[in-house]
Parts: sequence; structure tokens; C-alpha cells
Amino acid sequence: MTDHSDYTVSIHYDRRLYRQDIAGSKAHAAMLARQGIISQDDADSIIAGLGKVQDEIERGDFPWDPSLEDLHMNIERRLTDLIGPAAGRLHTGRSRNDQVALDMRLYTREAIADIVAALRSVQRALAQLAEQHANVVMPGYTHLQRAQPVLFAHHMLAYFEMFQRDIGRFTDCAARMDVLPLGSGALAGVPYPTDRHAVAESLGFGEISPNSMDAVADRDFLAEFHAAAAIAMMHVSRLSEEIVIWSSREFDFVRLADEFTTGSSIMPQKRNPDFAEIARGKTGRVYGSLMGILTVLKGLPLTYNRDLQEDKEGFFDTVDTLLSTLRVFADMLPGMILNTERVESLAGESYMLATDMADYLVGKGVPFREAHGVMRRLCQHCEAEGKSLADLRLDEYREFSPHFDDGVYAITAAASVAARDNPGGTAPNRVAEGLARANKILREAGAV
Ligand code: ARG
Repeated sequence: MTDHSDYTVSIHYDRRLYRQDIAGSKAHAAMLARQGIISQDDADSIIAGLGKVQDEIERGDFPWDPSLEDLHMNIERRLTDLIGPAAGRLHTGRSRNDQVALDMRLYTREAIADIVAALRSVQRALAQLAEQHANVVMPGYTHLQRAQPVLFAHHMLAYFEMFQRDIGRFTDCAARMDVLPLGSGALAGVPYPTDRHAVAESLGFGEISPNSMDAVADRDFLAEFHAAAAIAMMHVSRLSEEIVIWSSREFDFVRLADEFTTGSSIMPQKRNPDFAEIARGKTGRVYGSLMGILTVLKGLPLTYNRDLQEDKEGFFDTVDTLLSTLRVFADMLPGMILNTERVESLAGESYMLATDMADYLVGKGVPFREAHGVMRRLCQHCEAEGKSLADLRLDEYREFSPHFDDGVYAITAAASVAARDNPGGTAPNRVAEGLARANKILREAGAV
């Protein structure tokens, strides 16, 4: 029969947790000695030995042994080689179940800090683009149809707000998972006078878990992390989609820096937006891992089940995917060149001012519904005649409504944008408020 022993092995991926595992073990050993559960001498040699293990791992000469299955057993075995029987006292009052639950929390906490920093860099790039093109008017879209003129800065700051909510979700996740599971033992607690609060404090946790069974079975924090990551990738993917569309010849709104485009092997004219496309594509695997963790958890009876070992690969993949994607965007966005002339000329196209003309008729006392109907008929007329609204003479306008006067020619993209001067609107002073808000957030986060 084939040897199936490698089926349960996790060492090739859980070794990524070595720093967290060793930090947890050191804190645990120190507490055991303080509580008189093991001698101070044993704790000292365990802690020194763990330091050596960490050095070996970081130097790349740790003897990883797959037959020992996982990280925890590999480290304990090596500690035994290095310091002898005292190593056997480290696992007093602990189980791999609460140990791995701790490692995953420690790792997630660090990953969140890195991701929040990367999200801040993307936000900074968006705020800079908004600042750089503070007064550029572009077409705003609904249904991917030109709808109303907006400021390019308003568009960039919309993404700033999305990433701001992402940071909120990751920060919430970090706050909710700020609970030490160690001390729960295998599932029922431990029969030693441990000091869980001291361990929590030395590892920087705000609280200890209140229920040992929940603590070893819980991976909610991973599900939350994956959900936050999936939503953040969805935002990056929407931005990617816009960049792909905008950099097409048909739109020609932006030009990406050379290092973020590639040529085709057979079509020399091409500048493919590969980085944006790959980011859009990678969103799929991040969604997949969210489904993965939810599915791993859904049928598990309390408490620890080995299925939980399947929480790791998707998690590491999501951490790597999200971080690398955000770092690409933080570097790609500042080099994105806006074709100001092109977006401004499209924004000035008179069809997009139809709503403003209806509002202008409202200003003359026409009910909005009626004004809307006038404009719809005017647009149909223009379409049939192959004209634009701007081409019409005043007498033509007046065939559709006697309320038209010369003022209709004062309706421009700039006037349309300036008129949307309510909080959150696209008027330049409102967008300036949005930018001030963004810069304040970045300053307070220490990101500028
Ligand atoms: N490799 C395991 C995991 O990641 C560690 C915990 C193993 N516990 C056990 N009782 N077999 O979940």
C-alpha cells in the first residue's frame, strides 16, 4: 500500500508561523516559572533554546522534518536536541490546540497592521491624484453611459472612501480578536495555577478568552479577516476595471507608466494594462479562500477538529495576494497620466448637460417632470437631426418650451459641476472638503 503519512503534514506551510509560535512559547515558559510550575533554570534554558531555534530557522539551517508533521512538533523536537529533557516541560499546561489558536491570532494581528499600512499608501496615492487634478472635469457614468460631469478628483476620492471602510473593517477585526486563547488547554482548561492575564499582557492582548471550548474551536477572526480582504479586493478590482477601460484607445482617459503595462508578443502597438487585469483576476482566489474558511468551519462540532488545520493555506495566500496587490497599486497610481484634454472635452459634450437644462427650466417655474419630458424630446430631436444640444438655435429650443432663453447657453460642464454644491456633491469647494477630509485622515494616521 502507498504510504499516506504525508497527507496530514502541514510543516511546509505552517512553518510561516515560527516567530509567533516561539514568542508564544517564551511567554508561556516565563509564566510557568513565575507561577512555580517549572523551575526558573528550566525556563531560562527553554527560552535560550528557543532563541537558538529561531536563529537556526532564520539562517536557513533548521532541520525541518516532515515526519514530525507540524511546526509545533518540529520546534519541540529541536529544542530537546538543543537543551535536553528540560524541553519536555515547555508543554506543561498547554496543548497544540490553544497553541495554534494563539499563533494564528498573533500572525493575523501582524498581517492586519501590514495591510492597513498598505491601504494607507493606496489612499495617499488617490488623494495625491485628486490634488494634482483638483479642477479637471470628466464624464461621470451610470450604466457605463455618460451621465453627468464630475470632477476627476471626486472620482478618485470615491475610492479613498472605499479603502477607508476597508481599514475600518480590518481594525474592527483586530479589536475583536484581541483575546488570548492560550491557557485553554486541549479544550477544558488546565489543572495548573497558570496566570493567563500575565501571558496576555506579555503578548500584547487586551483580554483572555472567557471560554476554553470556544477558544480552541474559534476561527471567527479568520472568517472576518477573509471577508474584509475579499471586500478590499473587490474595491481594487473595481478600480482595476476602470483603469482597464480608461486605458483603452476607445476611452483614452489615462496612460499607465511603462512598467505597469506590457506589449503584445505579436501586436507591437499594444500597451496592455496587465497589472490591473491580474489584480482583477486575483480577486477570485481571495473570494475562494473566504468560501474555503466558511466551509471548513460550518459543520464542525465543538471543539478542536483537525479540519482546522485547513485554515492556513488560504489565509496565507490571501495575506500575500492582498498585500502585493495593494503595494502594486500604491506604486502604479502615482504614475498614471490623466489625459486632461480628452476627459474635459467629453465632459463638455452637451447631452450630458440635459439634466442641468431640465433644472434650468425648473428654475423658470416648470415642474421637474415636465422639464424632464421637454429635455427628453429635445434629445430625441437632436438624435434624429444628427445635432448636439449645443448646436440648437434659441428658436429651436423654444419650439419645445417657451421658457428657454439665452441663459441656456450658459449651461456648461463647469457650471453643472459647480451647481452640485451640497455636502458630498461634486462642486469644486465640496470636493476640496473631501480632499481636506482625506488629508486629515492620512495625517492623523501618520501616513503623510
Ligand atoms: N497542525 C495543527 C493545526 O494546525 C496543530 C494542532 C494539532 N492538534 C491536534 N490535536 N492534533 O491545527
